[in-house]
Amino acid sequence: MSEILILYYSRYGATAEMARLIARGVEEESDMHAKLRTVPEVSSVCEAIEDAIPKAGAPYVSEADLRECSGLILGSPTRFGNMAAPLKYFLDTTSQLWMSGALIGKPASVFTSTSSLHGGQETTLLSMMLPLMHHGMLLLGVPYSETNLLHTSSGGTPYGASHLAGADSKLPLSDEEKQICRTQGRRMAALAVRLAAT
Ligand SMILES: Cc1cc2nc3c(=O)[nH]c(=O)nc-3n(C[C@H](O)[C@H](O)[C@H](O)COP(=O)(O)O)c2cc1C
Repeated sequence: MSEILILYYSRYGATAEMARLIARGVEEESDMHAKLRTVPEVSSVCEAIEDAIPKAGAPYVSEADLRECSGLILGSPTRFGNMAAPLKYFLDTTSQLWMSGALIGKPASVFTSTSSLHGGQETTLLSMMLPLMHHGMLLLGVPYSETNLLHTSSGGTPYGASHLAGADSKLPLSDEEKQICRTQGRRMAALAVRLAAT
Protein backbone atom coordinates (compact mmCIF):
# COMPACT_ATOMS: atom_id res chain seq x y z
CA MET A 1 0.00 0.00 0.00
CA SER A 2 1.26 3.47 -0.85
CA GLU A 3 0.81 6.65 1.15
CA ILE A 4 -0.54 10.13 0.52
CA LEU A 5 1.02 12.57 2.99
CA ILE A 6 -1.42 15.19 4.27
CA LEU A 7 0.80 17.80 5.85
CA TYR A 8 -0.91 20.73 7.56
CA TYR A 9 -0.62 23.38 10.20
CA SER A 10 -3.69 24.37 12.21
CA ARG A 11 -3.90 26.73 15.18
CA TYR A 12 -7.66 26.66 15.89
CA GLY A 13 -8.69 23.36 14.31
CA ALA A 14 -10.38 24.27 11.00
CA THR A 15 -7.50 23.19 8.76
CA ALA A 16 -7.08 20.04 10.86
CA GLU A 17 -10.75 19.18 10.27
CA MET A 18 -10.28 19.68 6.53
CA ALA A 19 -7.21 17.42 6.65
CA ARG A 20 -9.28 14.62 8.21
CA LEU A 21 -11.96 14.93 5.51
CA ILE A 22 -9.35 14.89 2.76
CA ALA A 23 -7.87 11.77 4.38
CA ARG A 24 -11.30 10.11 4.18
CA GLY A 25 -11.41 10.95 0.48
CA VAL A 26 -7.94 9.46 -0.06
CA GLU A 27 -8.89 6.20 1.61
CA GLU A 28 -12.32 6.01 -0.09
CA GLU A 29 -10.84 5.69 -3.52
CA SER A 30 -8.16 3.07 -3.49
CA ASP A 31 -5.45 1.13 -1.74
CA MET A 32 -3.84 4.42 -0.76
CA HIS A 33 -3.25 5.12 2.91
CA ALA A 34 -3.57 8.70 4.19
CA LYS A 35 -0.76 9.78 6.55
CA LEU A 36 -1.56 12.91 8.58
CA ARG A 37 1.38 15.00 9.77
CA THR A 38 1.81 18.49 11.19
CA VAL A 39 4.62 20.95 11.96
CA PRO A 40 5.68 22.57 15.27
CA GLU A 41 4.98 26.20 16.12
CA VAL A 42 7.83 28.60 15.42
CA SER A 43 9.33 30.81 18.08
CA SER A 44 10.75 34.33 17.88
CA VAL A 45 13.72 33.13 19.93
CA CYS A 46 16.31 30.80 18.43
CA GLU A 47 15.84 27.77 20.60
CA ALA A 48 13.94 24.51 20.36
CA ILE A 49 10.87 24.78 22.60
CA GLU A 50 8.55 22.01 21.48
CA ASP A 51 8.58 18.41 22.66
CA ALA A 52 9.54 15.96 19.91
CA ILE A 53 6.00 14.55 20.00
CA PRO A 54 2.96 16.88 20.02
CA LYS A 55 0.64 16.69 23.02
CA ALA A 56 -2.35 15.96 20.75
CA GLY A 57 -3.17 15.40 17.10
CA ALA A 58 -0.98 14.30 14.22
CA PRO A 59 2.75 13.64 14.73
CA TYR A 60 5.33 16.08 13.40
CA VAL A 61 6.43 15.53 9.83
CA SER A 62 9.90 14.24 8.97
CA GLU A 63 11.97 14.49 5.81
CA ALA A 64 11.42 10.75 5.34
CA ASP A 65 7.63 11.29 5.24
CA LEU A 66 8.10 13.52 2.21
CA ARG A 67 10.66 11.25 0.58
CA GLU A 68 8.46 8.17 0.94
CA CYS A 69 5.01 9.53 0.05
CA SER A 70 3.31 8.88 -3.29
CA GLY A 71 1.65 12.31 -3.16
CA LEU A 72 1.44 15.37 -0.93
CA ILE A 73 -1.61 17.42 0.14
CA LEU A 74 -0.51 20.56 1.95
CA GLY A 75 -2.86 22.59 4.18
CA SER A 76 -2.52 25.92 5.98
CA PRO A 77 -4.72 28.60 7.51
CA THR A 78 -4.50 31.88 5.64
CA ARG A 79 -2.20 34.36 7.35
CA PHE A 80 -2.29 37.80 5.73
CA GLY A 81 -3.14 36.20 2.39
CA ASN A 82 -0.32 33.70 2.64
CA MET A 83 0.52 30.37 4.26
CA ALA A 84 1.26 30.27 8.02
CA ALA A 85 4.88 30.70 9.16
CA PRO A 86 5.26 27.24 10.79
CA LEU A 87 4.52 25.52 7.48
CA LYS A 88 6.73 27.88 5.50
CA TYR A 89 9.49 27.40 8.09
CA PHE A 90 9.31 23.65 7.63
CA LEU A 91 9.32 23.96 3.81
CA ASP A 92 12.43 26.13 4.10
CA THR A 93 14.23 23.16 5.68
CA THR A 94 13.66 20.93 2.64
CA SER A 95 16.64 22.01 0.53
CA GLN A 96 18.27 18.56 0.74
CA LEU A 97 15.14 17.09 -0.84
CA TRP A 98 15.23 19.83 -3.47
CA MET A 99 18.91 19.24 -4.27
CA SER A 100 18.43 15.49 -4.64
CA GLY A 101 15.24 15.95 -6.70
CA ALA A 102 13.40 13.56 -4.38
CA LEU A 103 9.98 15.13 -4.98
CA ILE A 104 10.24 15.60 -8.75
CA GLY A 105 7.22 14.09 -10.50
CA LYS A 106 5.19 13.45 -7.35
CA PRO A 107 1.62 14.86 -7.35
CA ALA A 108 0.77 17.67 -4.91
CA SER A 109 -2.33 19.61 -3.93
CA VAL A 110 -3.20 22.38 -1.43
CA PHE A 111 -6.01 23.50 0.90
CA THR A 112 -6.71 26.41 3.25
CA SER A 113 -9.09 27.99 5.77
CA THR A 114 -9.85 31.69 6.28
CA SER A 115 -11.90 33.91 8.58
CA SER A 116 -13.32 36.06 5.80
CA LEU A 117 -14.69 35.09 2.41
CA HIS A 118 -12.45 37.44 0.44
CA GLY A 119 -9.54 37.28 2.86
CA GLY A 120 -7.12 35.46 0.58
CA GLN A 121 -8.12 31.85 0.00
CA GLU A 122 -6.91 31.85 -3.60
CA THR A 123 -3.74 33.86 -2.90
CA THR A 124 -2.82 31.45 -0.11
CA LEU A 125 -3.46 28.41 -2.27
CA LEU A 126 -1.45 29.81 -5.16
CA SER A 127 1.43 30.86 -2.89
CA MET A 128 1.52 27.38 -1.37
CA MET A 129 2.01 25.97 -4.87
CA LEU A 130 5.22 27.96 -5.48
CA PRO A 131 7.66 25.92 -3.34
CA LEU A 132 6.02 22.73 -4.60
CA MET A 133 6.76 23.80 -8.18
CA HIS A 134 10.39 24.45 -7.24
CA HIS A 135 10.44 20.86 -6.00
CA GLY A 136 9.20 19.70 -9.42
CA MET A 137 5.88 18.40 -8.10
CA LEU A 138 2.82 17.95 -10.33
CA LEU A 139 0.03 20.24 -9.11
CA LEU A 140 -3.51 18.95 -8.87
CA GLY A 141 -6.64 21.10 -8.39
CA VAL A 142 -10.36 20.37 -8.19
CA PRO A 143 -12.28 20.53 -11.51
CA TYR A 144 -15.87 21.79 -11.83
CA SER A 145 -17.06 18.22 -12.40
CA GLU A 146 -17.18 18.54 -8.59
CA THR A 147 -20.41 20.54 -8.92
CA ASN A 148 -20.29 21.78 -5.32
CA LEU A 149 -17.78 24.34 -6.66
CA LEU A 150 -20.72 25.94 -8.49
CA HIS A 151 -23.12 25.89 -5.57
CA THR A 152 -20.98 26.74 -2.56
CA SER A 153 -21.68 30.08 -0.89
CA SER A 154 -18.65 29.74 1.40
CA GLY A 155 -15.36 27.97 0.62
CA GLY A 156 -14.26 25.76 -2.26
CA THR A 157 -12.03 26.71 -5.20
CA PRO A 158 -10.63 25.00 -8.30
CA TYR A 159 -7.14 25.64 -6.85
CA GLY A 160 -7.89 23.43 -3.85
CA ALA A 161 -10.38 22.97 -1.03
CA SER A 162 -11.05 25.93 1.24
CA HIS A 163 -13.20 26.75 4.25
CA LEU A 164 -14.80 29.93 5.51
CA ALA A 165 -14.34 29.67 9.29
CA GLY A 166 -15.84 33.06 10.21
CA ALA A 167 -14.61 35.88 12.42
CA ASP A 168 -14.31 33.69 15.51
CA SER A 169 -12.97 30.77 13.45
CA LYS A 170 -15.77 28.51 14.67
CA LEU A 171 -18.08 28.02 11.66
CA PRO A 172 -18.40 24.30 10.88
CA LEU A 173 -17.54 23.09 7.38
CA SER A 174 -20.57 23.31 5.07
CA ASP A 175 -21.72 20.21 3.19
CA GLU A 176 -20.26 21.64 -0.02
CA GLU A 177 -16.89 22.35 1.62
CA LYS A 178 -16.81 18.83 3.06
CA GLN A 179 -17.56 17.23 -0.32
CA ILE A 180 -14.86 19.29 -2.03
CA CYS A 181 -12.32 18.15 0.60
CA ARG A 182 -13.22 14.51 -0.01
CA THR A 183 -13.14 14.93 -3.79
CA GLN A 184 -9.66 16.44 -3.55
CA GLY A 185 -8.46 13.46 -1.48
CA ARG A 186 -10.03 10.91 -3.85
CA ARG A 187 -8.60 12.65 -6.90
CA MET A 188 -5.10 12.70 -5.43
CA ALA A 189 -5.31 9.00 -4.52
CA ALA A 190 -6.56 8.05 -8.01
CA LEU A 191 -3.76 10.02 -9.68
CA ALA A 192 -1.09 8.53 -7.41
CA VAL A 193 -2.33 5.03 -8.26
CA ARG A 194 -2.17 5.82 -11.99
CA LEU A 195 1.32 7.30 -11.72
CA ALA A 196 2.54 4.28 -9.75
CA ALA A 197 1.33 2.01 -12.56
CA THR A 198 3.33 3.83 -15.28
C1 LIG B 1 -1.89 36.24 12.16
C2 LIG B 1 -3.16 35.85 11.47
C3 LIG B 1 -3.42 36.31 10.19
C4 LIG B 1 -4.60 35.98 9.54
N1 LIG B 1 -4.82 36.43 8.26
C5 LIG B 1 -6.00 36.18 7.66
C6 LIG B 1 -6.25 36.66 6.35
O1 LIG B 1 -5.40 37.26 5.68
N2 LIG B 1 -7.48 36.43 5.82
C7 LIG B 1 -8.46 35.75 6.50
O2 LIG B 1 -9.57 35.60 5.99
N3 LIG B 1 -8.21 35.20 7.72
C8 LIG B 1 -7.00 35.40 8.30
N4 LIG B 1 -6.74 34.88 9.55
C9 LIG B 1 -7.73 33.95 10.14
C10 LIG B 1 -7.38 32.47 9.87
O3 LIG B 1 -7.00 32.24 8.55
C11 LIG B 1 -8.62 31.61 10.16
O4 LIG B 1 -9.02 31.82 11.48
C12 LIG B 1 -8.39 30.14 9.90
O5 LIG B 1 -9.65 29.53 9.73
C13 LIG B 1 -7.64 29.44 11.04
O6 LIG B 1 -7.43 28.09 10.69
P1 LIG B 1 -7.12 27.01 11.83
O7 LIG B 1 -8.41 26.83 12.62
O8 LIG B 1 -6.76 25.77 11.07
O9 LIG B 1 -6.00 27.53 12.67
C14 LIG B 1 -5.56 35.17 10.19
C15 LIG B 1 -5.30 34.69 11.49
C16 LIG B 1 -4.11 35.03 12.13
C17 LIG B 1 -3.86 34.52 13.53
